[in-house]
Amino acid sequence: MKRDLLSVSDLSREEIEQLIEQALAIKPKPPSHLLSGKVLALIFEKPSLRTRVSFDVAMHQLGGHAIYLPPDEVGLGKRERVSDVARTLSRYVDGIAARTFSHNTLHTLAEHSSIPVINALSDLEHPCQALSDLLTIYEKKGKLSGLTLAFIGDGNNVANSLFLAASLVGMNFYIASPPGYEIKPEILKQGKKLAASSASQIKLTKKPAEVVKGADIVYTDVWTSMGQESEAEKRRLAFSTYKVDNKLLDLAKGNALFMHPLPAHQGEEISTELLDDPRSVVFDQAENRLHLQKALLVQMLP
Ligand code: CP
Ligand code: NVA
Repeated sequence: MKRDLLSVSDLSREEIEQLIEQALAIKPKPPSHLLSGKVLALIFEKPSLRTRVSFDVAMHQLGGHAIYLPPDEVGLGKRERVSDVARTLSRYVDGIAARTFSHNTLHTLAEHSSIPVINALSDLEHPCQALSDLLTIYEKKGKLSGLTLAFIGDGNNVANSLFLAASLVGMNFYIASPPGYEIKPEILKQGKKLAASSASQIKLTKKPAEVVKGADIVYTDVWTSMGQESEAEKRRLAFSTYKVDNKLLDLAKGNALFMHPLPAHQGEEISTELLDDPRSVVFDQAENRLHLQKALLVQMLP
């Protein structure tokens, strides 16, 4: 039976650990034939640099091919029903990676496809980012379980997937968000359940300093995600005391990592110098999208 990856929680802890192992094995010299003859459709309703390029390069380097389908071309749900796009693509290609506004669109795609559907970011989750980030953390720290990740800012798609991923692998997840921008109750419930079986701890607060203190990883993301542009001004005000800078980072452990999925807005969620701080691993994160997604594609494409 085909499997989809719409949420990090579609995977077990063992499967995540296997993906990381396989990504580490593939990283130095990817076997050029593993996806020979396979084709991946990339349906994107929103812009992308990392996700689009890393999936395309991953397919190419493993002997397969990717077809990028930009928003205006497919018109998901506008030019054609989502279910009809799914059924048509299933006749041509071996898998779909889709970036959508609504997470429900992914569910419809998956339901009507006979091929695997991978979430390349939705309003609810960004599983490929979170899984790649676990790879980066594992490379830098040599373990995942028992570490503490402090997330500063919006309880958004990136935070949701990181929270679920951390809860699955036994990493503590602390988050500081302004009122009204916390992780949503349904994800919280799901994460708490996973955390209970992995013994990872969860902390939710309004105070950035409180979560960063003693953390192994400090993570932030944009205040305004794609699709929320009309709220940008309101969000700038709500998040004004949630900027990550050197001073805040200094409260974390001496060997802490600074992480961000990119694109970053210097002067908003991070201070201008932060991407160049020795603690920043943001471009390693971007690179690891390629390696982790290779492992994922090898596992998922029939
Ligand atoms: N981090 C990430 O998904 O980047 P893109 O939006 O550029 O794909
Ligand atoms: N939260 C951001 C992540 C971009 C990779 C967004 O959805 O726009």
